[in-house]
Amino acid sequence: MQSLGLVNGKLVDLNENVVPMEDRGHQFGDGVYEVVKVYNGKCFALKPHLDRLYRSLRAIRIPATYTYEELVEFHELLIEKSGINEGAIYLQITRGTAARTHHFPEQIVPCLTMSIRPTGTVNTRPWEQGVKVILIPDERWLRCDIKSLNLLGNILGKQQAKEAGCYEGVMVRDEQVTEGTSSNFFVVKDDVIWTYPTTNLILKGVTRTIVVEKLVKELGLTVLEKPFDVKFIKGASEAFLSGTSTEIMPVTTINGTLVGDGTVGPITRSLQEAYTQLIDEECGRK
Ligand SMILES: Cc1ncc(COP(=O)(O)O)c(C=O)c1O
Repeated sequence: MQSLGLVNGKLVDLNENVVPMEDRGHQFGDGVYEVVKVYNGKCFALKPHLDRLYRSLRAIRIPATYTYEELVEFHELLIEKSGINEGAIYLQITRGTAARTHHFPEQIVPCLTMSIRPTGTVNTRPWEQGVKVILIPDERWLRCDIKSLNLLGNILGKQQAKEAGCYEGVMVRDEQVTEGTSSNFFVVKDDVIWTYPTTNLILKGVTRTIVVEKLVKELGLTVLEKPFDVKFIKGASEAFLSGTSTEIMPVTTINGTLVGDGTVGPITRSLQEAYTQLIDEECGRK
């Protein structure tokens, strides 16, 4: 089992120098990306991730030079050649390499790089007992719906959370709570699940969509995709994050204050169980 890379369809060692100095991903963050989890040697929810990748490419006007089938094949190749059963595949497409100019250079060819890494030994405690988050100002640009390589606002926010001893920074823009720096955010109040709507101000997470469009319905729960403010979450009985790596993560403390009684609530627990079951089914686990 080994970590492995792939550049424009060719397998490479992850430590090989493969990206030219003037690749625009490197110089401008001019590209888009996706992360897909591998369970039991199979990609989970690969189609919605690739659908979003094509949406992101269109949004920043990078031509799609690989077909859906080719991208699926590359994911399978990385799993097969690495021998990794439990891991994550990172994929990015940049506009390509050219002498540095802000506008799009002519006749530039997009560059695809991918890597697979094993998940390693996971400490399951956060999923069992919940995590702390802090609220931070959302200082990102106005196209958070694009999964762009430009992540400065996100990484500065995540670092701030880490330095505060928190798992995640949950962002607030115009007094509304938007999302985590690498996850979507939900609260439960009076048995209704609330989450920010899918506007340009958040990323439409694949995991969020699974929660909102599938699990909530299966469990007979109610979800509202409506903005809510900081005051609103003070009365929440439960809170949780969703994301490809985050999965369904209970939040038990916000800004040092317990959510509800500070334990993982029944709605979060039932969503966690339903999500695990979905992975088991789709990836043939157990
Ligand atoms: C800002 C942001 N929101 C939400 C998510 C969750 O998205 P997904 O469920 O597709 O992983 C991510 C994931 O990286 C993210 O970066």
